[in-house]
Amino acid sequence: MVFVEVCGVTDVPEGQGKPFTVNGKGIALFNIEGDFYAVFNTCPHQDNPLDGGTIEDLVLSCPFHGWQFDVKTGKHLTFPNVGVPVYETKVEAGKVFVDL
Ligand code: FES
Repeated sequence: MVFVEVCGVTDVPEGQGKPFTVNGKGIALFNIEGDFYAVFNTCPHQDNPLDGGTIEDLVLSCPFHGWQFDVKTGKHLTFPNVGVPVYETKVEAGKVFVDL
């Protein structure tokens, strides 16, 4: 595991996602009630970014055509063989780290 510092905890507003490029990889980082979730920032449907999506009950909805993913596992809710990579996160000293 290699946790990489991505941003400060206040850099992603609560209830929203934000795009970051870390070690050349595009990720979408979401702040849901102070818990952070990181996913690969490319939807497997038509390769659009996921950072503008919404999360409700730990379900991430793509902002383009509404594909839905479990934000903890990355699995598509209807087609479990489809998914998006997810990354572990941790918060330390006011900073968000992602395991890439
Ligand atoms: S690009 Fe995500 S649902 Fe179409």
